[in-house]
Amino acid sequence: MTIDEKIGAATPKWNYPEHILSLQPSVIREILKLTSRPEIISFAGGLPDPSLFPLDEIAESTKRALQEYKGAAVQYTLTRGITPLRELLAKRISDRGAATEVANLLVTSGAQQAVDMVTRVLTEPGDTVLTEYPTYVGALQIFDYRQINVVSAEMDENGVITDQVEEQIIKHQPKLIYTVSTFQNPTGISMSEERRIKLIELGRKYGIPIVDDTPYNELRFTGQNIPTLKALGGDDVITIHTVAKILAPGLRLGWINARKEFINVIEKIKQSDDLHAGTLNQYICHDFCKRGLLEPHIEKIKKHYGAKRNLMLSEIEKQFPAGIKWTKPDGGLFLWVELPEHLSARELLERALKKNVAFVYGQPFYPDGSVTNTFRLNFATATHERIVEGISRLGSLLTEVI
Ligand SMILES: Cc1ncc(COP(=O)(O)O)c(C=O)c1O
Repeated sequence: MTIDEKIGAATPKWNYPEHILSLQPSVIREILKLTSRPEIISFAGGLPDPSLFPLDEIAESTKRALQEYKGAAVQYTLTRGITPLRELLAKRISDRGAATEVANLLVTSGAQQAVDMVTRVLTEPGDTVLTEYPTYVGALQIFDYRQINVVSAEMDENGVITDQVEEQIIKHQPKLIYTVSTFQNPTGISMSEERRIKLIELGRKYGIPIVDDTPYNELRFTGQNIPTLKALGGDDVITIHTVAKILAPGLRLGWINARKEFINVIEKIKQSDDLHAGTLNQYICHDFCKRGLLEPHIEKIKKHYGAKRNLMLSEIEKQFPAGIKWTKPDGGLFLWVELPEHLSARELLERALKKNVAFVYGQPFYPDGSVTNTFRLNFATATHERIVEGISRLGSLLTEVI
């Protein structure tokens, strides 16, 4: 007898809230599905180069964590995260110029969860947030799901244009300002010190928290360090960190650095979300850092990514026809290409895929989706040979269409 016959009724349809039904799948995930075929040279993902993951050291740290902390290494732990890791992070952040105490930190399950929790603490459905234009598509997904309106300010080579930020604040009274201030995803642009100071001034003048999402900050290859928003703005700024791009994204570890009162509130949200970030991964990360392995590892990946950045830029210079602009980032994983206005990057992607090359077109990174002539290239993941070949194919395609 089937369960239908036993109960005498068929499996019912379920009703989902309207705003859940209207959620769009991530365009990037959709493109990544397409580009997982090995013959495709992909500049599409936001992924670090997996050949650089320090697998032996992670294995050793796992063993050491289990030996040293025994059951505690896999037990429930504090919602804020294990104390030794937060102590270590507080010192590391302070050493880099932003005075931070253990009570300013809460460990998260990656930066993505941090952006979501910060949004939930500072906004209600129907509120407005202010972002750069374009901005990180994963943040836009969160705002969409949380039913938050997004307004934005354009960027130039010095980052977000702060005069536009002020105009938008006056017009829309946003509840938070979200920025990826350094080696931004998607453009690779970094905000100048002058703009950082101006942004903090605006946050203070209008009483709006500034949220700085910083996965790429430590990946600088060239140019001068710029003081972080946190180092400049202290308690006016909430900073989101992650190990995704400096160690391994699958560890799902990040942390929030914010004023203590904010950490006390967000702790309650985290508790209801997932109790705490994975205990073992926190101990692994702690051991890895404690053994002094993180700094040399970051130096190593910077060398690799910096060489690939140089290669991609010099190939673009050689292969792309006149009429196309691109950013020349001092760090991070991405550069951003701007086509003449009449060309669609989405249509270009369709043609590029036929030549087995992929990138992410820019439209989903704009909150209003109204810019269609830009695209993002990840220079960090493909091998040198594939960068040369992929940019050559893209160059000849662009020469055909221009
Ligand atoms: C700006 C930005 N924020 C957050 C994330 C997500 O980071 P995590 O993997 O730590 O959740 C990314 C990943 O690409 C990102 O670029």
